[in-house]
Amino acid sequence: MNPLFGGNTLKLGLFCTNGSGASQTLAPEAHETSWDMSLRTAQAADRAGLEAVVPFARWKGYPENNPGHRSGRVMDPFTWAAGIAAVTENIGVLATSHAPTLHPIVAAKQAATVDHISGGRFALNVVGGWNKPELEMFGAPLREHDERYDHLAEWLQVTRSLWTETDEFDFHGSFFDVVGGVSEPKPVQPAIPIMNAGGSPRGMRFAAEHADLCFVIVHSEDEDEIREQIQGYKRMARDEFGREVRVWTHTAVVQRDTQAEAEQYYRRFSVEQEDTESVDAWMRLQAANTEVMPPAVLQAMRQRFAAGAGGFPLVGTAETISERLGTLSRAGIEGALLTWVDYDAGLAAFTRDVLPRLEASGLRAPAGPSAASTDRAEPAVIG
Ligand SMILES: Cc1cc2nc3c(=O)[nH]c(=O)nc-3n(C[C@H](O)[C@H](O)[C@H](O)COP(=O)(O)O)c2cc1C
Repeated sequence: MNPLFGGNTLKLGLFCTNGSGASQTLAPEAHETSWDMSLRTAQAADRAGLEAVVPFARWKGYPENNPGHRSGRVMDPFTWAAGIAAVTENIGVLATSHAPTLHPIVAAKQAATVDHISGGRFALNVVGGWNKPELEMFGAPLREHDERYDHLAEWLQVTRSLWTETDEFDFHGSFFDVVGGVSEPKPVQPAIPIMNAGGSPRGMRFAAEHADLCFVIVHSEDEDEIREQIQGYKRMARDEFGREVRVWTHTAVVQRDTQAEAEQYYRRFSVEQEDTESVDAWMRLQAANTEVMPPAVLQAMRQRFAAGAGGFPLVGTAETISERLGTLSRAGIEGALLTWVDYDAGLAAFTRDVLPRLEASGLRAPAGPSAASTDRAEPAVIG
């Protein structure tokens, strides 16, 4: 049973620990790209009963002519996931695949391998890419926005065929030609779960049609508006593709003893200590190559991009944070990826103070065998 489909009403995961975290800050306590930190935080999350550890794929950092910049110091998601899978017991382990950088035959076999190492706890985040300079390194131009998702759909079709077809098959599409395709061993799971976080209309349609976990960026603070955002997504998947999708989001957590202290720290690391060179470049690349939000909204979200890749702020006391997670859950969010400036300290405090509150409110069961029971079906096998 993949823990992504376990019994907790609100699933939780770690995000971006394979690099320098999700914040673009000069704060000295920020997460460093290191195996030690990756390992420590993944094992702590595993012990705490979290459902997922999600790395991101980044081939080049954001600022131009700054090759050593920390935004590019990101470990390869697949080999990282294999390492994490080997030293954890229950947590779901993901890798992220940039379709333009990795042939489906390689990705299918790598994914199946990590699924074996993890004993069926693996899932795959598939992305079309938006960071133009990193894709240009591969000698290919960044495709036109919507065509990236056509390519990704075909990429995923070939990958899934390799996971399921027992006979050799030929595939001739618009982007891929596979002759006598085969991949063994098959994954442990009948269907490896797929995550996608496309935010544009085309990206959301792709996720609704093909993904099991879809991500939204939550803009509103109002529970009804958030509910409408989630329900709109689920309706589209149901009406247009006859599918049920689970909707998750990502967050930026700052937990302190008082609201004022938390807000002060949030401001310090994401405004006063903002990595301006990096955030400027990120904003330019996002505006040019994504269609998630209009330019004015993108600008208004600057602090959120600096704080945690645009994640929903969970800033305050343990009480406030658990209430805000409760709001997200009531609005229909089924999982939240957590990011901190300092993951070690942040996760320890969250485990000590927030998790018991989520357990008391019935959103989660205490870590242990009961957390692994299920109330949902896993995704159907896709042939
Ligand atoms: C939770 C989350 C994880 C993501 N992971 C990656 C990643 O690892 N690599 C990447 O290039 N883009 C990543 N993205 C970006 C999205 O895949 C997508 O390209 C972006 O939101 C722009 O949407 P659009 O392509 O539909 O315009 C991620 C986004 C979110 C919200």
